[in-house]
Amino acid sequence: MKKTECIFPGSFDPVTCGHADVICRAARMFDRVYAAILHNPEKHGCFSVQEREEMLKACCAEAGNVEVVSFPGMLWELAQTLNVRVILRSFRSGGEAEEEITMARLNEKLLPGLETVFLPSRAELSCVSSSAVRQIASFHGNIHGLVPDVIEQKIRDKFGY
Ligand code: PNS
Repeated sequence: MKKTECIFPGSFDPVTCGHADVICRAARMFDRVYAAILHNPEKHGCFSVQEREEMLKACCAEAGNVEVVSFPGMLWELAQTLNVRVILRSFRSGGEAEEEITMARLNEKLLPGLETVFLPSRAELSCVSSSAVRQIASFHGNIHGLVPDVIEQKIRDKFGY
């Protein structure tokens, strides 16, 4: 029987409640979800790739069909390596949807047959982003409800509060 698999790629710097919600919804629709941290070795994020991976794993621990991976290259190469032909992306607004459609078309050009499917963010999470979390945390603000409870303290520790 054919297994349905997808890659949910992102920077996850750090993973947010928005990401966790999409992963949870995807895990109900696909046999396997690869939550993939795509990173450019020449660019450093706020959290190291190892920290991001640990946080993402902690958030996905309860879903038996979610695998966390990290990859220092392009998305189409990861898709080829894993032999997966479905990318899952989310968007929070119409503007983001437009950008995502362009990225989906580019990825299909880079690896013909690579499809992208979309899950819009839940309305109540549409203001949540990794960059907002980083900014709020940098001012020692309240990040409760923006990131999964299991990683809240790790983020506060990173920013010293
Ligand atoms: O969480 P983000 O920042 O929205 O994730 C963007 C990401 C990492 C998925 C995207 O930048 C990406 O795929 N980077 C790898 C390089 C690549 O393959 N780009 C797409 C074709 S230009």
